[in-house]
Amino acid sequence: MDGNPLNTKLCEEYGCEIPVVAFAHTKDVIAAVSNAGGIGILGATGLKPDELRSDIRWIRDKIGDKPFGVDLLVPASFVEGNREDLDEMIPDEHRTFVQHVKSVSGAPDSPPPSDIDPTYSGYENLLERSRQQLDILFEEKVPIFASGLGSPAFIIERAHQEGMKVWGLVGLPRQARRQIEAGVDVVVAQGYDSGGHSGTVGTFTLVPEIVRMAEGTDTLVLTAGGVSSGKHLAASIAMGSAGVWTGTIWLATHESETAMFLKQRIIDSKVEDAVQSRAMSGKPIRQLRSRWSDIWKEDGAPDTLPMPLQGMLVNDVLRDIKEANLEDWMTTPAGQAIVGIDAIKPAAEVVYEMADEALELFERATENSATA
Ligand SMILES: Cc1cc2nc3c(=O)[nH]c(=O)nc-3n(C[C@H](O)[C@H](O)[C@H](O)COP(=O)(O)O)c2cc1C
Repeated sequence: MDGNPLNTKLCEEYGCEIPVVAFAHTKDVIAAVSNAGGIGILGATGLKPDELRSDIRWIRDKIGDKPFGVDLLVPASFVEGNREDLDEMIPDEHRTFVQHVKSVSGAPDSPPPSDIDPTYSGYENLLERSRQQLDILFEEKVPIFASGLGSPAFIIERAHQEGMKVWGLVGLPRQARRQIEAGVDVVVAQGYDSGGHSGTVGTFTLVPEIVRMAEGTDTLVLTAGGVSSGKHLAASIAMGSAGVWTGTIWLATHESETAMFLKQRIIDSKVEDAVQSRAMSGKPIRQLRSRWSDIWKEDGAPDTLPMPLQGMLVNDVLRDIKEANLEDWMTTPAGQAIVGIDAIKPAAEVVYEMADEALELFERATENSATA
């Protein structure tokens, strides 16, 4: 094959060598992936401004001028109000059910954390939080801002003036259309299989549709959801994507701060163990199946509440479960890509393996067509 098929427009525009983008919460994963030739994107929704600033500086220190970014959840649909008003919207039936969950789990009351900052815990202050965090991204001139939930259209002009790129995650073609029309630099087409907040349309259906929409515009498309190997990378490029955006595969890397028992559970899990549940945030999050996700699907469990009410309802019991280290009840967002994870590896090795396998597949495809 002439040229390097992995040298996509993403690599040209961002200066990466391998069109693999890694979403992770651990800054060490971000640095390792960017240093290996990919692009690391730090999931920063839970970080306070000073933590965010120090992580950004730490990453810069490790990677120099290689590309990286920060992802924030800036929700589009959200119940707004002060804490008391929101509290009153939570029905008694739900409070009773959560009491039941707590007693079945056996989690004792954990002491309230002393240094809790209400803006940076749970989901109820997500809007205010993301506004403060965005200011830090501008001050630090982070090369890429990725918006995890709502459309980042409102920030594009300012970001472009500052020389920053704006990426948006979407799960539906109509969301992609709005973002492309608004001029986002990259649309991440995130399919049903993906870990975290995942939608209803399969990756293989979503990506070609969005690639078609982006034709003739300056917006690049990345494939997300279920990507765990060079096969997925090669297929994505063949579909017209400029690369892949990945989350689950980094959870079981050496550098990831994911708890060891969860890394092992990921390795041991079957694809059916990556279940969608609204029980944490009110929006569907694909995660490792646990007693927590199971109990919300039992007969008698109430429907979950919209964001941020569900988070407010369950925050305390989730903290109690974590403090008591009840492993069967604990989980992590994770997608169907868990099937592709069979060992704990350094993040750089994951990047290189994907690139090598994809290149081999492209070579084989070319050989096959030559002999046909
Ligand atoms: C542990 C975990 C946490 C995630 N948290 C976020 C988040 O805070 N913001 C976001 O935009 N996406 C989040 N995601 C989704 C990823 O950005 C990505 O779209 C998804 O993982 C891609 O699918 P994959 O898991 O099959 O690779 C998360 C994914 C995982 C696995």
